Amino acid sequence: MPPSHFTSCIRIATYHPLRLPATRLRSSLSVPNPSANSSRRLHITPKRFNMSDFAAYTANGAKTATQQEPIINGNAWDTQTNPAAFDFRSDVTTKPTASMLAAIQQCTLLDDVFMEDPTTQSLEKFIADLTGHESALLVLSGTMGNQVALRAHLTTPPHAVLCDRRGHIINYEAGGVATLSQAMVQPLDPKNGAYLTLEEIQEHAVISDDVHACPTRVIELENTLNGALMPLSEVQRISRWARENGIIVHLDGARLWEAVAAGAGTLKEFCQEVDSVSLCFSKGLGAPIGSIIVGSSEFIKRSRWIRKSIGGGLRQAGVVAAPARVAVEETFLGGKLAQTHIKAKKLEKAWADLGGRAKYPVDTNMVWLEADGVTISDPRWTELGQKYGLRMMGGRLVVHYQITDEAIERAIQVFKEIVTGEQGSFRSKDAEFNNEDMALKGKGVE
Ligand SMILES: Cc1ncc(COP(=O)(O)O)c(C=O)c1O
Repeated sequence: MPPSHFTSCIRIATYHPLRLPATRLRSSLSVPNPSANSSRRLHITPKRFNMSDFAAYTANGAKTATQQEPIINGNAWDTQTNPAAFDFRSDVTTKPTASMLAAIQQCTLLDDVFMEDPTTQSLEKFIADLTGHESALLVLSGTMGNQVALRAHLTTPPHAVLCDRRGHIINYEAGGVATLSQAMVQPLDPKNGAYLTLEEIQEHAVISDDVHACPTRVIELENTLNGALMPLSEVQRISRWARENGIIVHLDGARLWEAVAAGAGTLKEFCQEVDSVSLCFSKGLGAPIGSIIVGSSEFIKRSRWIRKSIGGGLRQAGVVAAPARVAVEETFLGGKLAQTHIKAKKLEKAWADLGGRAKYPVDTNMVWLEADGVTISDPRWTELGQKYGLRMMGGRLVVHYQITDEAIERAIQVFKEIVTGEQGSFRSKDAEFNNEDMALKGKGVE
């Protein structure tokens, strides 16, 4: 039921003089009557799938992996038919498991805008408890989580967000910081190449009420960033200083699960240092959809309001919350992430043995490959990946828990061919861009 003041609005609308029958309305407002032809054009019968088309999109129709042909559709019922098993492009390609799909079938189906859905509310409470925050809010994506959180924190311009120049919020969120929060960004390049330090932040944060200044209201951290860790000790130093200076800290923890699985600290230890965190369910954890933000009750109340304003209020949200819960329990708490880090290290070692090196520390599940004095083009990676039945998107390989040992072996074959292939040592088609350059020019890196 809508709240009572909504019902009275609806009643008023019913008696409004402009709510006349369509023909009377048209004549009184002189709106031309659309011709019968044009109205037919708006109602073209859509092409229906026949059963064989449909089968191609189901588990029954999924093809098995071959050396030549990467699978591009299908379900995750087992590793033979899971298209993610050979897909190194990102951990967003992980596919929901049978237990996640079963959880969807069994979830409650009540309305979350009315805050009545037990599946959603229990997930929110569960994550609030896991992270040591008062409250949590389910959102549809990591982008929605970051942007809602920033908008909730940033109330009155002029205001600025200080963050790592490579951060997701400024490179891959469609300019939302500007359009939604009217904030200026203060991007910094970490001198150590991996993460921002307190000293860099102190040097660039603007703490001033001078009329010329744009004060830093939020420090935004990302952990992990490009697969590299920001150590807990650095987060603690930054956070202590930010609190002393009245600056809010938001953490893009899309992959904070990975940092925890790598032993860098517990979820609570990282999350209690900051005012808000956004955590993704649909990356390494493997849920089909969803992220969550955590913070104080007051922050979450405001975030709920902002989420609604951008169309993120969900009705039967249980279908999103239920598999997300399974993802946290089975993938994260079930300890499946650590083995992906071991596989990533194996890739790093194989590449190093061939004379290459990793561009960023391989602390978790990402391996960024490069070699001295050589740039290997993204199309070359894609092309060689295809040859070995892998999906690759340049020299950044993301290992997730559905990547098989077989896929790792094939990736090493690709490395060997890149190095010693027909065209000679590390010689390949000349690169037009390197990965990061591509990324910064707006080519998505998820
Ligand atoms: C660090 C980080 N934050 C946020 C996001 C955004 O997540 P989504 O794609 O769900 O919007 C991503 C996406 O990969 C990410 O890598």
